[in-house]
Amino acid sequence: MNDPRLQRLHDAVPGLALTTEAHDLLHYGRDWTRRWTPAPLAVAFPASTAQVSAVLRWAGVEGVAVVPSGGRTGLSGGAVAANGELVLSLERMRRVLAFDAVDRTLVVEAGVALETVQEAARSHGLYYPVDFASRGSCTIGGNIATNAGGIRVLRYGNTREWVGGLKLVTVAGDVLDLNRGLVKNSSGYDLRHLAIASEGTLGVVVEATLRLTAPPPPTATMLLALPSFAVLMQVFQALRERLALEAFEFFTDRALHHVLAHGAQAPFADVHPYYVVAEFAADGADDPRLLDAFSHCAEQGWVADGVIAGSDAQAAQLWRLREDITESLAASLPYKNDVAVRVSAMPAFLAEAQALLAAEYPDFEVVWFGHIGDGNLHINVLKPADMDQDQFVARCGAVTAHLASLLNRHGGSISAEHGIGLVKKAFLGSTRDAAEIAVMRAVRAALDPAGILNPGKLFDADSPTSDSTP
Ligand code: MLT
Ligand code: ZN
Repeated sequence: MNDPRLQRLHDAVPGLALTTEAHDLLHYGRDWTRRWTPAPLAVAFPASTAQVSAVLRWAGVEGVAVVPSGGRTGLSGGAVAANGELVLSLERMRRVLAFDAVDRTLVVEAGVALETVQEAARSHGLYYPVDFASRGSCTIGGNIATNAGGIRVLRYGNTREWVGGLKLVTVAGDVLDLNRGLVKNSSGYDLRHLAIASEGTLGVVVEATLRLTAPPPPTATMLLALPSFAVLMQVFQALRERLALEAFEFFTDRALHHVLAHGAQAPFADVHPYYVVAEFAADGADDPRLLDAFSHCAEQGWVADGVIAGSDAQAAQLWRLREDITESLAASLPYKNDVAVRVSAMPAFLAEAQALLAAEYPDFEVVWFGHIGDGNLHINVLKPADMDQDQFVARCGAVTAHLASLLNRHGGSISAEHGIGLVKKAFLGSTRDAAEIAVMRAVRAALDPAGILNPGKLFDADSPTSDSTP
C-alpha cells in the first residue's frame, strides 16, 4: 500500500478493507470476457453505504477512476479494470435486509447473489422470476447495472420490471433513495430507471427493493428437435398459441456438441440440427394442451423428435443442455454477439443474419443459441486455437459492423442483455442515434462531470461518437 492516494483512502475511510495483492488485482480486475489484462490500482471492499460514499468522495478529490464490481460474470467488459482504477467490490454488502409480505418486496444489498434472492423469495412462499445460468455468482447490483434478462423474460420481463426502488450513491457521495418501493409515483423523472442498465456510469447501486410475485403454476419441460431453422418461429408461434409459456429457448447442434463434450447426456439417439427447450404451465406430462401442441407441430413436419421431462431431475437435465452452453464454450474465448429484434421481426432478421454470417465466417465455428421467445439471439464465434486473439477480435469486429447495420435495418439492438461495456462500444451508434447518445452523454456528465465512474465503458465521455475499436 505504498501509493500515497491509497494511504489517504485508508485514513479517510477507517476500517475499509483494501487490497493490492497481485492475485486480487487479477481476480477483481476482470470479468468473463478475458480480453483485457487487469491492472487496477487496488480493490476496496466497503461494508456499508457510508463507506461507499466516503470512497467515492475520495475518488473525486484524488481523480481516481472507480469500477463498481459485482460477481464479474458479465460478458461485455463492463467490470474490467485495466487502467489503474479502484475496483469497488460490493461483495461485503450482501445482506437481505427486509421482507414485506403486504408489499411483496425484498430489500437487499447490492452484493447479494441472484440465487440468494430467489431462495429468500421462495422461503416466503413467493418468487423472484429473473433467472439465468450464472445465478449462483452474479449479483443483484450487476443485474441492475445491465438490466439482466435471462431465460424467463418472455413471461416475466427483465430485471427492470422487478426493481421497485434503488439506493444509488453518486460520485459526490450523496445517497439517492429512488422510488421508495412505490408502485405508483408520478413525481418527475424516474432516476431509478435511468440507473438501471447504466453499467455503473451514473452511480453505485448499494441497495435494491425487489418486487416478488406468486410462484409459477406447475410446469412441464419439453425438448424438441427441429429439422430446419426455418420452422423455429413457427414452432414458437404454435406453442405460444396453445400453451402458457414460461420459457422458450433455442440452440443448435454445435451448441449441443460442446455441452455434451462438457459432460451432459445426449437427449436423443440421432443428431438434429436445431433444438428448443420449452417450459410451460401444465398438469403433468399428459396434459391435453401439451399433446395438442406437440401433435400440431409434428403434423406440420416442424419437429423431428421430442421428449417431455417426467420428473424434476429430468427437467433439470434438459435445462442443462441449454444453460451449460456459455461455460462449455468459454475455453474457446468466443466473440459474443447478443442481439435483439422485436419477435415479429425475427423471421426476416434470422434469414438475413444467417446468410450474412455464413458468408462472412466460412472458416470459423459459429454457435447460435438464445432466448428466441423474447427476440434475443446469442451468436458466439469460437476462436480458432492457433489464431492470435487480437487478430480474431478485429476480424469478428469487422463482421459485427455488418451485423450492426443489419440490426439497424430491422430496428434491433446490438446488446439485448449483456450490456455495451467495452466490447460493444464501437457499435452503440447502430442502436442509438447521435441525438440520443448526446443526451446520454449529457446525463452522464451531469452526474459525473469528472468522469470518475467506470470511464471508457458504454461510450467515451469526451468523444462525439463511439469510436473505439471493438
Ligand atoms: C446465455 O444466455 O447463456 C448467455 O447470456 C449467452 C452467452 O454466453 O453468450
Ligand atoms: Zn442470454
